[in-house]
Amino acid sequence: GPRGPFGLGNLYNYMPGIGAYSWLQLHKAGQDKYEKYGPIVRETMVPGQDIVWLYDPKDIATLLNERDCPQRRSHLALAQYRKQRPHLYKTTGLLPTNGPDWWRLRSQLQKELSAPRSVRNFVDEVDTVTQEFLNFLEQSAGVGVAIDLLPKLTRLNLELTCLLTFGTRMDSFSPAEQLAESRSTRLMHAAETTNSCILPTDQGLQLWRFVETPSYRKLRQAQAYMESVALQLLEQNVEKDSMRSSLISSYIQNPQLDRLDVVGTAADLLLAGIDTTSYASAFLLYHVARHPQVQQKLHEEAVKVLPSAKQPLQADALRTEITYTRAVLKESLRLNPISIGFGRVLNQDTVLSGYFVPKGTTVVTQNMIACRQPEHFPNPLSFQPERWLQQRNALNPYLVLPFGHGMRACIARRLAEQNMHVLLLRLLRNYELI
Ligand code: HEM
Repeated sequence: GPRGPFGLGNLYNYMPGIGAYSWLQLHKAGQDKYEKYGPIVRETMVPGQDIVWLYDPKDIATLLNERDCPQRRSHLALAQYRKQRPHLYKTTGLLPTNGPDWWRLRSQLQKELSAPRSVRNFVDEVDTVTQEFLNFLEQSAGVGVAIDLLPKLTRLNLELTCLLTFGTRMDSFSPAEQLAESRSTRLMHAAETTNSCILPTDQGLQLWRFVETPSYRKLRQAQAYMESVALQLLEQNVEKDSMRSSLISSYIQNPQLDRLDVVGTAADLLLAGIDTTSYASAFLLYHVARHPQVQQKLHEEAVKVLPSAKQPLQADALRTEITYTRAVLKESLRLNPISIGFGRVLNQDTVLSGYFVPKGTTVVTQNMIACRQPEHFPNPLSFQPERWLQQRNALNPYLVLPFGHGMRACIARRLAEQNMHVLLLRLLRNYELI
């Protein structure tokens, strides 16, 4: 793979105006490397800092099935920010922490956040908020005026994340909360700003470790705001004496977690919950809008589980009766996952595609590019939910992994999928996307 001029690293190739690649279009860099070097690529970013990229599902399976506290090397600047605030954070949180500290947190948090039964308990609240969201969209739409959906979807996911995490309604669809200085709008921007600073601060020279670079400053300011809201919502939750069931009220009652664990978790969920589901939903609605025959089938399934639009969605129906809706989401995430793949730092020496890769190497999967290759999916660029109904068993299970895989996979996968299923069913029950 590329080592850069004189072996000095390929980082220059990602610099705006200089290189051929961009942090904002990593899938193009991924495709280019696949075409030039094949299914396993070692790229020297700066001397001494290599990334091994994997495109072969066999290698991806070997990497992701590693047990023993899989490690990720990401959100490094966020970790530094939190380490400097020991009065608020006990660990650096679920996203950047590794090793036994990570597992102590993860094993306690996932009971409420991942177990199917706990997730189903949220259906009623999600359904109510989603219906309010559709009313909000109706009010925003003028005749013949296109709606820019992404910022609206971000409001929906902000509302859902705060309700399910803290039991608090933010009223983010209200006129007051749409103002630039409102809490909802500032929180949305703070999450987006932090997320946009993760890659630039994780990669390259990491000068922010020594001086406050512009990216680190943006991240620090955005985090300070998110943290203040997380603390506010946490206090409100405690004052209400946890009247409403929410993730945070369960965590507060868990004797294995202390207050600082809960503060860090609150901040993590706000950061990880909003943009992820919004971008995934935006791609989903884009694909659905472009395929009228898919819409028709979705509408039929929506009418089956909601014979009357006024009745509430049943958790059981979501579990057993929405095969086509599930296939549509899966196909959208195949073509447009929110991350090109995910990374691990090897816990042990490993052989990948016949190459010896030593312990400690950063290895990143390229699922998005692999999912677009004809050897894995016939007619790979075409949006065909039917492939998940007809040929499912013939498809390799290590290709479409939008939520990652293994012990370190997305802790809120079922919740995020459920929220998007509800959105799709409610929307297609009564509307047509054009
Ligand atoms: C469509 C929506 C979402 C997608 C596609 C997504 C995707 C991912 C991916 C790819 C990872 C890394 C997995 C790995 O390394 O194997 C991850 C981790 C994580 N996600 Fe999600 N996510 C979504 C929604 C959410 C939501 C709604 C929350 C919280 C409310 C959340 C919280 C987290 C957390 C805390 C982690 C870190 C888990 C750990 O390291 O133990 N995600 N997510």
